[in-house]
Amino acid sequence: AKKKFKQSEVNIGMVGHVDHGKTTLTKALTGIWADTHSEELRRGITIKIGFADAEIRKCPSCGKYSTSPKCPYCGAETEFERRISFIDSPGHEALMTTMLAGASLMDGAVLVIAANEPCPKPQTREHLMALQIVGNKNIIIAQNKIELVSKEKAIENYNQIKEFVKGTVAENAPIIPISALHGANVDVLMKAIEDFISTPKRDPNKPPKMFVLRSFDVNKPGTTPEKLIGGVLGGSIVQGKLKVGDEIEIRPGVPYEEHGRIKYEPITTEIVSLQAGGKFVDEAFPGGLVGVGTKLDPYLTKGDLMAGNIVGKPGQLPPVWEDLRLEVHLLDRVVGTEEELKVEPIKRREMLLLNVGTARTVGLVTNLGKDEAEIKLQIPICAEPGDRVAISRQVGSRWRLIGYGLIKE
Ligand code: GTP
Ligand code: MG
Ligand code: MG
Repeated sequence: AKKKFKQSEVNIGMVGHVDHGKTTLTKALTGIWADTHSEELRRGITIKIGFADAEIRKCPSCGKYSTSPKCPYCGAETEFERRISFIDSPGHEALMTTMLAGASLMDGAVLVIAANEPCPKPQTREHLMALQIVGNKNIIIAQNKIELVSKEKAIENYNQIKEFVKGTVAENAPIIPISALHGANVDVLMKAIEDFISTPKRDPNKPPKMFVLRSFDVNKPGTTPEKLIGGVLGGSIVQGKLKVGDEIEIRPGVPYEEHGRIKYEPITTEIVSLQAGGKFVDEAFPGGLVGVGTKLDPYLTKGDLMAGNIVGKPGQLPPVWEDLRLEVHLLDRVVGTEEELKVEPIKRREMLLLNVGTARTVGLVTNLGKDEAEIKLQIPICAEPGDRVAISRQVGSRWRLIGYGLIKE
């Protein structure tokens, strides 16, 4: 009998400083090299969020974990545990807001730290802070490139990691020494993932909510109008489920111009096809990358134009905000730079970069109160009151994470 395809049920992020081995580890776990864009290949860095799924299996005979039906350690037949989606994020300091968009989809994360460099590096700090800000507490640390260092250096690095995570959400995270390049100890990391990052309890009856991370026009140039396929949205469902045939609403929607100003209008359409983990399905659930085929004009969805939107049932989505009032929580130090400068208070008329879910927008600070800021947004966002907003400020030539805000009614 043909086995029913099981969709991925949990998203686990790969985070950490540039070149510490996130994409290599994703490959070691899933067999998939997530850097596929030409610029990524040319520069050797991850630029876009990558998804790669793995079926985690356990050997009933020797107890080891792998992704193969036959145990690579003892040859026995393995048992299916669950399908996991790994979200490979970029470590380059210039791509922090991309990392933040990915972080909003992570149920847990592996913080990859290279053993052959002093710890912490700036984006080791900044990515851990990002997880803390989005409220992610399920963290495992992979001490990578372990084969490059002596035993003494490995212990020294381990102690640096321990010192660094003290007082953070990762204080009690397990630290697993691995070599992603050689696949060494990856089975132990898989066990840690199974033991420490459980699949969140989901309520399938909640109204569906999908965060859009990408959008596409899948038609070849020159396709005749009657053969055109509607716009496709890619992202992850964070709540509820979506079905083929569902009527959906997308917020904040599509831009239009009114009196020289760009406005946004919610749009409704129908789901004509669904993909989960690359396979066509009738229903899609939280976990993994979901592709939603719609009846939208593909012109609206080409080149990630709809990234940052939220998909749900008409009338059941959170409100759209053009102005935000935030309860502001600033960090003491700018964690993403080598020097760790002090975070200065927010100033009136300052421009800030805000990440909410997969949406990012720039806003002008119009008013300040005690621990409060009012911000006029360039692109409106769809969010619930109480949602967390990551706040970044331009420091030197880059946006740096400086704190978070909670949306006030
Ligand atoms: P960004 O996406 O740019 O942040 O980098 P990354 O964290 O995804 O690192 P990537 O996997 O691209 O690896 C960077 C370099 O480190 C590559 O040359 C890898 O071959 C190398 N590398 C990764 N893991 C290991 C390891 O375990 N041992 C050794 N020796 N090299 C490794
Ligand atoms: Mg790299
Ligand atoms: Mg990478």
